[in-house]
Amino acid sequence: MSDPAAVEDRPGAAAGGAGTDGAAPWWQRPDLRHVGGRLHLGSCDLDAAAERLGTPAYVLRAPRVAAKLEALHDALDGAGLAHRVFYAIKANRSPKLLTWLAARGRCGADVCSPEELLLAYSCGFPEEAISFTGTSLSATDIEILARFPGVRVNLDSLSALKRLGAACPGRRIGLRINPDAGIGYGGNDMLQYSGAAATKFGIYLDRLPEAIAIADAHGLVIERIHFHAGCGYLDRELGQLERVLRAAEAFMAQLPDLAQVNIGGGLGVPHRPGDAPLDLGRWAAAVAQVLGLHSVEMAVEPGDFLVKDAGVLLAGVTYAERRKDVDFLGLDAGFNLAMEPAFYDLPCAPVPAVPRDAPETRYTVVGNVNEALDKWAEDHPLPAPEEGDTMVLINAGGYAASMRSDHCLRGDVRELILLE
Ligand SMILES: Cc1ncc(COP(=O)(O)O)c(C=O)c1O
Repeated sequence: MSDPAAVEDRPGAAAGGAGTDGAAPWWQRPDLRHVGGRLHLGSCDLDAAAERLGTPAYVLRAPRVAAKLEALHDALDGAGLAHRVFYAIKANRSPKLLTWLAARGRCGADVCSPEELLLAYSCGFPEEAISFTGTSLSATDIEILARFPGVRVNLDSLSALKRLGAACPGRRIGLRINPDAGIGYGGNDMLQYSGAAATKFGIYLDRLPEAIAIADAHGLVIERIHFHAGCGYLDRELGQLERVLRAAEAFMAQLPDLAQVNIGGGLGVPHRPGDAPLDLGRWAAAVAQVLGLHSVEMAVEPGDFLVKDAGVLLAGVTYAERRKDVDFLGLDAGFNLAMEPAFYDLPCAPVPAVPRDAPETRYTVVGNVNEALDKWAEDHPLPAPEEGDTMVLINAGGYAASMRSDHCLRGDVRELILLE
């Protein structure tokens, strides 16, 4: 299957590791490749960008986000599904990106906190285009939600139902359910939001009658169910998605006013050699197979799928040094700038912006934070980078800038959003 951003079909890049055997590296595509020996993201020469901005720096190319959004709409149209797309801004909340997306009008915004709500609104998303699904809501959170009657609120606990019901009787709402089935990249349990063990996300089927009774008591109309079963899924996980959708049907059967089913986000991008991009046609068909049988609109709120492989993190090499029998390569960017490899054990593949013409050494690539977790990659082949070289951490468009911290007061970082 080719890259889902149809305008950017990548050439035969499915096989191969780092591209050292002459095969194209797995991450390469027309808008992310070495041109004349220099890595480009679109027309941006990443080494030149690092020189101007300094490192570390995030660079994200917005047109790729737009292309993937269109591919998603096309797939859902092709499957005959009436639908809405809400971009999950928790993946990347750069105001420039949000303002650009809001002005294009091809997606709404999925927000998970009042602060995200206020940001999306201030970047130009009208309240009707904002979907809120937060957790552990405080009294202040409820008060802010009450100020935005047009926002589509999905409530995930009986307590939140009671309190929003008291503050906004008669409101049309969504119920975040827990389908008791999960999904995640490569079966990674840490990426699953519902599944074998009880999780904090949503109302289980056995508590649905209580939820309905609370809603009735406040005149709330449950017009929507919402679930987000996990993150990063690709084609091999589509069977799990189908199980999640089937589980949701038991909830749907008990909600007579249901008009929409929001299936959350979770659509993934390739992370390793051998990962094919998600086949959106198959994905949409899997969704339609279940939801197409019900007269409901579907909604989806992708984050990663839209932004992750549209962005990179640029880091400078600080040293290369052997310790015991391991060659370490130090970078001026630590795990606090892209937490997922350390937190969720997702693979990370640093690529030289301008590869040297040198034999490869296998490195343990580390950052500049005083934590043992601060490791980007192990046994990673690179053509002998030198101090000052620029390394490019791909797949850093999602959950990198938005999750960053300034631990150890590291993480002074710039951000460049490319609009072409
Ligand atoms: C409720 C909800 N919706 C959407 C998303 C976006 O997920 P993803 O970026 O995997 O598409 C998340 C991620 O945590 C989420 O919790």
